[in-house]
Amino acid sequence: MIAHSKPSVIKIRVKRQDGPGQAPYWQHFDIPYEANLNIISVLMKIAATPQTRDGKSVAPVAWDCGCLEEVCGACTMVINGRVRQSCSALIDRLLDDAPSGEIVLEPMSKFPVVRDLVVDRARVFHSLKRVKAWVSVDGYYDMGPGPKQSRAQQEAAYPLSECMSCGCCMEACPQFTKVEIEQQTGESEEEYQKRQAAAHDVAFIGPHAINQAVLFNNNPTGQFAKGKRLDALMEPGGLQVCGNAQNCVAVCPKHIPLTTSIAQAGRAVTVHAIKKFFE
Ligand code: SF4
Ligand code: SF4
Ligand code: FES
Repeated sequence: MIAHSKPSVIKIRVKRQDGPGQAPYWQHFDIPYEANLNIISVLMKIAATPQTRDGKSVAPVAWDCGCLEEVCGACTMVINGRVRQSCSALIDRLLDDAPSGEIVLEPMSKFPVVRDLVVDRARVFHSLKRVKAWVSVDGYYDMGPGPKQSRAQQEAAYPLSECMSCGCCMEACPQFTKVEIEQQTGESEEEYQKRQAAAHDVAFIGPHAINQAVLFNNNPTGQFAKGKRLDALMEPGGLQVCGNAQNCVAVCPKHIPLTTSIAQAGRAVTVHAIKKFFE
């Protein structure tokens, strides 16, 4: 990376959309240069004075964020063509990498746009439900102490547990295609949610969910639901959809070994399928 001299203004191009299903359009903003800004601070400056480059007053750009330290995944968007978290995207580095001096912000393309840079990541969490990505806790009675997790098991599990459900791996995956269900006139929120869940039930679960299935299947307590997780991976939209393009592992901000998890899930599913056949 070569450090170029910094411009007096930061040129920002934002792909905007006023609401779900509406046509997108572009707007340009100029922000006076300051050192050490990140994308979120630039968006806050735009929100404080929402005026385009040609002086037109517009509605502030909408975006999502939570932790501001690359932990929650809420601020994920496409920045200069690369999916990443906007809280950790530093302007100085982007200007060094972008010869045109312009920074282009777009919402992720694989999720329905709610407004501007905010997308609906419901499918990310629906996939986690499909593979039962949790360890069951006690019910209404004490089930006693669970099996112990060894140090080696903890160390193997830790890298897989760092997933923040950000959506980067799904955005990069060629097999993960957008599912957009629009709410119909007169349809209640409950009916709409049901229809959306039904569509998400057969769509590709995504690399993050496969990784979480492996994480919980390797957990000594999580193993109680191992068969159900493997069943979920064998259903339509499961593991077989993965084409092994390996784009997911290349973009994961947490460097999770997704393709190793996918291979491990593949072997477990094969054994599970053979066992089921003979049963
Ligand atoms: S696996 Fe990585 S890229 Fe995918 S959702 Fe988790 S943290 Fe994000
Ligand atoms: S390896 Fe599978 S999950 Fe990862 S990008 Fe390729 S097709 Fe998608
Ligand atoms: S705001 Fe949480 S990851 Fe960026």
